[in-house]
Amino acid sequence: MLELQNIGRHYQVAEKHVSALSGITVTLAKGSFTTVVGRSGCGKTTLLRILAGLTEPTEGTLTHKGTAKLTVGVVFQDARLMPWLSVIDNVAFGLKGRLPQDVIMQRCVAVLELVNLTAFRSAMPAQLSGGMAQRVAIARALVMEPDLLLLDEPFAALDAFTRRSMQNELVGIWQKRKPTIVFVTHDVEEAVLLGQTVLELDQGTLAGTAMIDLPYPRDPTDSRISLHRRTILQRLLTPQDAVPNHNTN
Ligand SMILES: Nc1ncnc2c1ncn2[C@@H]1O[C@H](COP(=O)(O)OP(=O)(O)O)[C@@H](O)[C@H]1O
Ligand SMILES: [Mg+2]
Repeated sequence: MLELQNIGRHYQVAEKHVSALSGITVTLAKGSFTTVVGRSGCGKTTLLRILAGLTEPTEGTLTHKGTAKLTVGVVFQDARLMPWLSVIDNVAFGLKGRLPQDVIMQRCVAVLELVNLTAFRSAMPAQLSGGMAQRVAIARALVMEPDLLLLDEPFAALDAFTRRSMQNELVGIWQKRKPTIVFVTHDVEEAVLLGQTVLELDQGTLAGTAMIDLPYPRDPTDSRISLHRRTILQRLLTPQDAVPNHNTN
């Protein structure tokens, strides 16, 4: 279990004070799937970086209640693969020297199977589609057997079809391995399809929390999904987002 108490992060940019996050209080249960949604610049990446230990909060505390040290895996929007290494060597890279070589290979083979890339283990990154490269990035995070898996808009650059199948794959992986997942997206539908809990961020603050008590796999055409989506959008949209009415003069 991970507890965020009143987390805040501000930046001083030239003469300007930027509050990227403030007053974030959330509990992440072990093995839960949380999504974070909000418009660009609302603080999603900052929150994820704080969870990853890459950014220090300027206010509040982050507490991990558990026995062992938390292992964390991060997946970014772009796959960031090493172009000179094959798929399996990219996946193995973080484990090099930490475990016996045969154990590393066993783990890599297992996670490549999990992300459906067994046939591409010796391919080079330049030979992969965007979706495949992103699956390698997920495999690279999973191979570390993280307790906490953090994903920052990992499917944003993919076409709608690939994104849909990647979402299903991720849910399948979560059900098999049960890491605690925090998944950041600017897409409300994606947030509702994936999360048990959706955290709605608006200008660095928590504008709402939605509990999505629906079984997986979820169907985007399910009316309950649309209802959640609409409720969240109503909270996050501002009058400036309204569609201009061209019929009036
Ligand atoms: N290292 C930084 N220095 C200064 N400002 C930053 C830094 N990182 C983020 N910010 C600011 O914090 C706010 C939130 O950014 P970010 O967390 O990247 O939002 P999101 O991921 O939701 O688009 C933005 O206004 C951004 O400009
Ligand atoms: Mg971001």
